[in-house]
Amino acid sequence: MEFKERKITVNRHQVSYFDEGKRQALPVVFIHGFPFSKAMWNNQLEALKKDYRPIAYDVRGHGQSDMGRDDFSIDLFADDLLALLDELKIPKALVCGLSMGGYIVLNAIQKQPNRFAGLVLTDTQCGADTSEGRDKRMKTIAFIKKNGLEVYAGESLKNLFAEESFQMRKEEVEFIHQTILATPTEVVCQTLQALADRKETCSYLPKIKIPVCIMVGEEDKITPLPMAEKMAAGIKQAQVVVVKGAGHLSSLERTDQFNHVLMSFLNACTTLNN
Ligand code: MLT
Repeated sequence: MEFKERKITVNRHQVSYFDEGKRQALPVVFIHGFPFSKAMWNNQLEALKKDYRPIAYDVRGHGQSDMGRDDFSIDLFADDLLALLDELKIPKALVCGLSMGGYIVLNAIQKQPNRFAGLVLTDTQCGADTSEGRDKRMKTIAFIKKNGLEVYAGESLKNLFAEESFQMRKEEVEFIHQTILATPTEVVCQTLQALADRKETCSYLPKIKIPVCIMVGEEDKITPLPMAEKMAAGIKQAQVVVVKGAGHLSSLERTDQFNHVLMSFLNACTTLNN
C-alpha cells in the first residue's frame, strides 16, 4: 500500500500528508497518536478511498512533517489541524483521532465547531493528566534526554498492544517500534511536555451536537473502557464500541473490526448529511 506523499505549509511549518479518494466526497481526516505517524492509518485509507476522501497527516515533528519553531502544545496542534483544513479548502470534515489525535480534535472543535461533521474518538479520553501522570511524563523526559529512545520504545510497546498482538500482530508491533525509534528525541520530549500540559475537554462534551463514535480496545491499558464511557456519558449522540482483542492501537491490531465500525458510522453520517 503506497500513497502519494504531499507537502503543504500551514501555521508556519511544513506538513506531510496523504490525500486519497474522491475530491468531491466527504473528507475524513485521520490524526495519529503519540509518537506515531500518518502511516498507521494506511489500512483505513485503503478501505475508504473508493467512497470517501481520506486524509492522514503527520502531526508537527512526527513522521515527515517538520517541527516548526513554536513551542509544542495540544492547542498548537489543534490550530495546525484547522489551518490544514483551511489550506486544503475543506469547510467541513469528519475527523478520526486516536489517543493524542483525539485530544487534538477535542481541542479544535471548541475553537471551530462548524468545521466538523462527525467524530471518531478512538482509544482516547477527555481528561487532563493527573499529577502522578504528569510526574511520570517529566521523569520520562529526563530519562530520554539521558538515555535516548531505545529503552523507552521497548517499554512503550508493552502498554500499547494487547497481549495477543505480540504473537498475532508481530509486523504491526515492529512497525510501531520502528516508528517510535524514528521520531526525533526532541520531538518526543516536547510532545510529552505538551501532553502533560493539556487541558481537560470533558466540560465541553455536552456542547457537541454532531454524531460521535467512540472506539476502545478491550485491553487498552492507557485509555481503558471507563474513560470511553465517561466521554460517551457527556456527549448527546455518542456510541461506544469495544474492539475485541485490541489494546491501545485498535485500528492497527484489529483492523477488520475497526474498519467495519468506522464504515458503518461513516455511512450513517453521510445519510444524515444528505
Ligand atoms: C497516545 O497514544 O497518543 C498517547 O498514549 C497519549 C498519552 O500518552 O496520553
